[in-house]
Amino acid sequence: RPEEPCSFIIFGASGDLTHRKLIPALYNLACDNLLPPEFQVYGFAITPMNDESFRKDMEEAVRNSNEASPFDLRVWHGFAKRLHYITADFEAPEGYKQLQEKITAYVKEKNVPDNRLYYLATSPSFYELIVSKLGEHGLVTPDYASGTQWTRIVVEKPFGHDLHSAQALNASIHKVFKEEQVYRIDHYLGKETVQNILAFRFANSIIEPIWNRRYIDHVQITAAETLGVEHRGAYYEKAGCLRDMVQNHLFQLLSVICMEPPVRYEGTSLRDRKADVLRAVVPINPENLADIAVRGQYGPGFINGQPVVGYRQEPNVNPQSNVETYVALKLFVDNWRWADVPFYLRSGKRLAAKCTEVVIQFKRVPHLFFQLSTEDQIEPNLLIIRIAPDEGIALRFEAKVPGPDMVLRSVQMNFSYSETFKVSPATAYETLLLDAMIGDTTLFNRADQVELSWAIIEPLLEVWSATRPFQPFPNYAAGTWGPAAADALIARDGRAWHNVP
Ligand code: BG6
Repeated sequence: RPEEPCSFIIFGASGDLTHRKLIPALYNLACDNLLPPEFQVYGFAITPMNDESFRKDMEEAVRNSNEASPFDLRVWHGFAKRLHYITADFEAPEGYKQLQEKITAYVKEKNVPDNRLYYLATSPSFYELIVSKLGEHGLVTPDYASGTQWTRIVVEKPFGHDLHSAQALNASIHKVFKEEQVYRIDHYLGKETVQNILAFRFANSIIEPIWNRRYIDHVQITAAETLGVEHRGAYYEKAGCLRDMVQNHLFQLLSVICMEPPVRYEGTSLRDRKADVLRAVVPINPENLADIAVRGQYGPGFINGQPVVGYRQEPNVNPQSNVETYVALKLFVDNWRWADVPFYLRSGKRLAAKCTEVVIQFKRVPHLFFQLSTEDQIEPNLLIIRIAPDEGIALRFEAKVPGPDMVLRSVQMNFSYSETFKVSPATAYETLLLDAMIGDTTLFNRADQVELSWAIIEPLLEVWSATRPFQPFPNYAAGTWGPAAADALIARDGRAWHNVP
């Protein structure tokens, strides 16, 4: 439990993220008695509300959330008292003045340090404005180094729209906050299963010796969803899959899989090693894009036997939209450990299954002395790290089928989180909010990481926004595994995607 009291200020408190993620996560922390002493939440948004109506609204959010712990009236009463609301425009000085007065009065009355965690949960178009207003109205502790009280800011994704805008946003934030005060969130880093990749790689002596180009044939990183764009058509039309999933979540997974061992489990060390990976990614050559990148968009189809509309028929989507809802990408990480090992990344909406996983395929054995029939060829070893759902790790290897003949078959050894630990893991937001309150930056993105990951996809963004799709959209039906061109991309290398059945 964080020991230092703090105020948690949510800009955009009437919005979707506050309802779906932030308040349920804070409520869960309250249930586990993990909130700091004298913790107060100040919601700040333009939608007119007062403390009472805000509390009612948040109660509904918690009751309706499938991520919140079961509703407990006693915990809720204790938690709701901590919620306050300021109806204000992000531009005008009044709201900031009110905020300052409320927080100052509270910390004076309780005689506690004025620690603040600001959270940008608004549309990204307000980020720079809010940050500059915080600076202008003196709401950021000027002397961070003195250590007597702190101010931090959590910035939601998307962090910029391309390299240039990400650099501009970093520059605006750095005018007001020092880098160590900035917590750029990527909820994938808060996932237990992603953090466990570090434990798996670096707390087991048998893994690291084979974790390199000598033994690994290739790596597949998949984030497949059955969901479509839902009510987020307007946002998605400006983003697309490359920005929404690849630049952030998939590159985080790539970094954790590829990074060298850090010196210690701590922000600078870990983030240095992860940034090294992004620095080593071989730049995408716009000339041979067709060989290494595929984009797709879903058309109508079936999900779990139910008919669903195509992307172009979704609300707030242009009926002629050329925005991609699927990306497959082949990348190389050019360093001592990974030179020449292909990394196949893919993500898409309305695919055949919800499945986020990393598959490590090992090289085949150099020589087979078993006399196997031609139909009985052996499969290479696979290590499957299931991020979600059915969280766990599986190792596929060859075994002898009982009987007089030497017949081989692939079998799996399986570690399952739910069977082993018998608890449902904390949601990513709980982990990350707690870390931000404690001041642990390990699981947050640093300015250079964000810029490096934008730089990697910049050539793709340019070419894809300038050209109509190579293949007319839609090019895959909802409920399938994506466009045929993505199968061809990996098949050209004599490999195939690992699709869950
Ligand atoms: C978000 C994207 O960051 O991640 C969504 O904006 C996507 O489009 C979501 O659905 C996927 O997250 P998860 O945790 O379900 O894999």
